[in-house]
Amino acid sequence: MVKITGIEFRNPTILASGIMGTTGASLVRMANSGAGAVVTKSIGPEPKTGHPNPSMVKLDCGFLNAMGLPNPSYADFDNEIKIAKEGADVPVIASIFGGNAEEFVRVAEGLTEAKPDAFELNVSCPHAEGYGATIGTDSCMVEAITAAVCDAVDAPVWVKLTPNVTDIRSIGKAAENGGADAVVAINTLRGMAIDINSGYPILGNRFGGLSGPAVRPVAIKCVYDLYETLEIPVIGVGGVSSWEDAVEMIMAGASAVQIGSAVHEGIEVFGNIATGIEQFLQDNGYAGVEDITGLAHEV
Ligand code: DHB
Repeated sequence: MVKITGIEFRNPTILASGIMGTTGASLVRMANSGAGAVVTKSIGPEPKTGHPNPSMVKLDCGFLNAMGLPNPSYADFDNEIKIAKEGADVPVIASIFGGNAEEFVRVAEGLTEAKPDAFELNVSCPHAEGYGATIGTDSCMVEAITAAVCDAVDAPVWVKLTPNVTDIRSIGKAAENGGADAVVAINTLRGMAIDINSGYPILGNRFGGLSGPAVRPVAIKCVYDLYETLEIPVIGVGGVSSWEDAVEMIMAGASAVQIGSAVHEGIEVFGNIATGIEQFLQDNGYAGVEDITGLAHEV
């Protein structure tokens, strides 16, 4: 059991935003497969079709994707959150996005009746024009958006950070100053793949967000730096696919670990990782995850 931002989780594994999070039923399925909590696909102020296909490329080191934040808008998604809340016995976190503070607030308020256990602000999509990284690389905007949402809702507010910056600590600090209850690090790294036979970039959007094993060491360093700088909890995400990866992320400073790309290997990943962490804690005489959070800073 872990408690983060006032919410209790039966284990420290969380379904990351973007995968298996577009319907209430798929969120329930992830909860039933062992996840300690689930995060929805990001929801915005207006219906959005997203980028042209292909929107995903499998690489030997992970995935590149550029979906383009496709979603039916908050007005058509609150019911999916209600379905998830009714069917899943774990916290349900609503990932939301907008182009400015007013849009973030509109989406958060529009979903409040569905009672998500927390909001995760996606200020870090690497390629959605007008949304995402143009916001998440600007400390002033991150602070203003965070403050506006914190003001508008009672639920805890988590802010998901982009690694596509020179110093993630200053953006994390801006989220903390805005009143964030936690930061989530990292969103995907900007990347590209080109088909050498045609000479064309493979993704419809030409470039996309890199996830999976390739980004894990980058995520570890970001979590390590944020843990050192911030007072609020850091939730780690980026390429975790085994319990050993999760323990490393926790030792860097994470209070819990989100899992995305590894879900492609099988949905039993949550249960397997949670069991592995528990066994590691027992074998080494630790009482809980908090005993090893940030351990790498003490040596
Ligand atoms: C998308 C959003 C993200 O936050 C991300 O990291 C990658 C892709 C998207 O919807 O395209």
